[in-house]
Amino acid sequence: MEEESFDPFDPFELYSLLRPRNVCICKAVSEEVIVKLIQEEGCRTFHDIVLRTGAATGCGSCSMAIKSILVRELRKIQNEV
Ligand code: FES
Repeated sequence: MEEESFDPFDPFELYSLLRPRNVCICKAVSEEVIVKLIQEEGCRTFHDIVLRTGAATGCGSCSMAIKSILVRELRKIQNEV
């Protein structure tokens, strides 16, 4: 298994670091829940995650963080194949 790397120049990763562990505060959706949906339950789009969790349907400020997590996790899946 490939070790996870952090790119300090990637604005999506930096933004993700600045967010608290509950990625979506309005709907109380954690990063762990989002990762599990992507890694284990087949969510592959931002829309999938929104439909399953309700995240990003409040103020919407978490949208970029969710997309950042999605991109990161999809890259992991792609690298595993
Ligand atoms: S923090 Fe996610 S909708 Fe407000």
